[in-house]
Amino acid sequence: MSFWDNMIGHFWGQESLPLLVMVLCITALLFHFRHDERASLVNTISFFFVCQFGQFIGGLLYALELTRAAAVAHEVFVIGAGIAVIRLWGQLVFRVVLPAVKLTPPRITEDIFVIIAYIAWFMVRLRYAGLDLSSILATSAMITAVVAFAMQDTLGNILGGLALQLDNSIEIGDWIKVDDIAGRVVDIRWRSTLVETRNWETVVFPNSQLMKNKFLVLGRRTDQPVQWRRWVWFNVSLDVAPTRVVSVVEEAILHTDIANVAKTPAPNCVLMDMDDKGYGRYALRYWLTDLGPDDPTDAVLRWHIMTALQRAGIKLAVGEHSLHITKENEKYEEGVHEREILLRIKTLRKVELFSQLNDDELRSLAQHLRYSPFARGNIITRQGDEKSHWLYIIINGEADVFVDLSNGKRRAVRSLEKGNFFGEMGLLTGAPRSASVIARTDVECYRIDKEAVEGLLQARPAIAEEISHILVVRRAELDAALQNLDATGAHPDLSRQRNEILATIKRFFSLG
Ligand code: CMP
Repeated sequence: MSFWDNMIGHFWGQESLPLLVMVLCITALLFHFRHDERASLVNTISFFFVCQFGQFIGGLLYALELTRAAAVAHEVFVIGAGIAVIRLWGQLVFRVVLPAVKLTPPRITEDIFVIIAYIAWFMVRLRYAGLDLSSILATSAMITAVVAFAMQDTLGNILGGLALQLDNSIEIGDWIKVDDIAGRVVDIRWRSTLVETRNWETVVFPNSQLMKNKFLVLGRRTDQPVQWRRWVWFNVSLDVAPTRVVSVVEEAILHTDIANVAKTPAPNCVLMDMDDKGYGRYALRYWLTDLGPDDPTDAVLRWHIMTALQRAGIKLAVGEHSLHITKENEKYEEGVHEREILLRIKTLRKVELFSQLNDDELRSLAQHLRYSPFARGNIITRQGDEKSHWLYIIINGEADVFVDLSNGKRRAVRSLEKGNFFGEMGLLTGAPRSASVIARTDVECYRIDKEAVEGLLQARPAIAEEISHILVVRRAELDAALQNLDATGAHPDLSRQRNEILATIKRFFSLG
């Protein structure tokens, strides 16, 4: 036999080709189905080829008649190649085949199976090479003790991981808090549990640590949906009755759909403390349904609290420092007020409805306006509300007009934007609110009460006519939306309608 025949005969056996084909097929499948794990796949396959190369070297040594070295090299690299193959099979079965039949065993199952297969493969090869590891372990108490000692931690972690999974203490996707670290469990492995925090960190907890110490599973309660209670704090002077603060805030929050805020239990506002400076310390308590965006949801609620309090004319408590400045400087306060009035006049001038008013009339109207901000999603007027106290003018943002249909669905009628007014139907005719107006963005409005509107109409009856004109068109649109018709088809006789509405307005405001 020539040198090369000798070498190839030792390196390339009968099983080599099928093994290579199998490895390449598994690699191709994994490459195709597990995009995110390509890097680790490349490592495994490289390791496999390194072992193949090692076996080739073994063949060379054999051909060089270094039989003992060749046998050792061959055995070591066969064990290595086997480990790579076991790893590939583990990935194929647990990450491709089982998920394809809708089975997703936890990662630790794969790890344990693979480790057992490694050990079995190792023992088989050693026995094949003439060494019986089990008898060595059994006969040498010293080796057994060393191995057991070395494995102590690892075994603790494996058993810890198994126990965590078996008793369902934590599952992948749970939010947990250990000491001051909170995050979402993304993987439970044979040694450790991986937790991703909101700060984009991954914390690796040894399983035995989780078993030995207490940890919180956030938002989980038996037979209940996952949701986690949070507190949003704010202060209001005790000069304002706490019942009023609570009802203003709850009214605004309970009637708005806010992303990630649970409907049950409903959010509630409570007076938590009263401090010696005369402030009431309130908390809006709510349940967060997606535990990820905690601070952003708190921020949205703070904005809702702020706007609700502002609309009700309730000020958030401010530090002593700024109180001092405004109290001391009355001239400054007058200046601020005057600037605000000028700004309002400027805004009112741009509203078509008030285009005919002179400066004095605009100034008097400006003084009656109440600034009312709304947060996105707030229901500004609710269809069917009996009390229609206000006419609104939008100065910033957009709102949508909706009608509730008899089948329980809600239909969009129109959008309103900066410079538009709404709420006139109820305020001017005394009828319940005809539609719901919901803030599509954060919306800033001025609102005018009935007395101010009455003064305006008495001074300028032409405004009533103009409003009745707009009102009749809007009502036709509303009816069309209610009946799913074209607006012109719904009310062919618009001028008769207009006269009727004008008469209603005049009667309601006792205009001549
Ligand atoms: P009001 O009925 O007091 O409350 C709901 C308001 O929605 C209503 O007054 C109008 O101001 C407004 N509205 C109703 N229909 C329309 C429409 N078609 N276009 C614009 N606004 C409308």
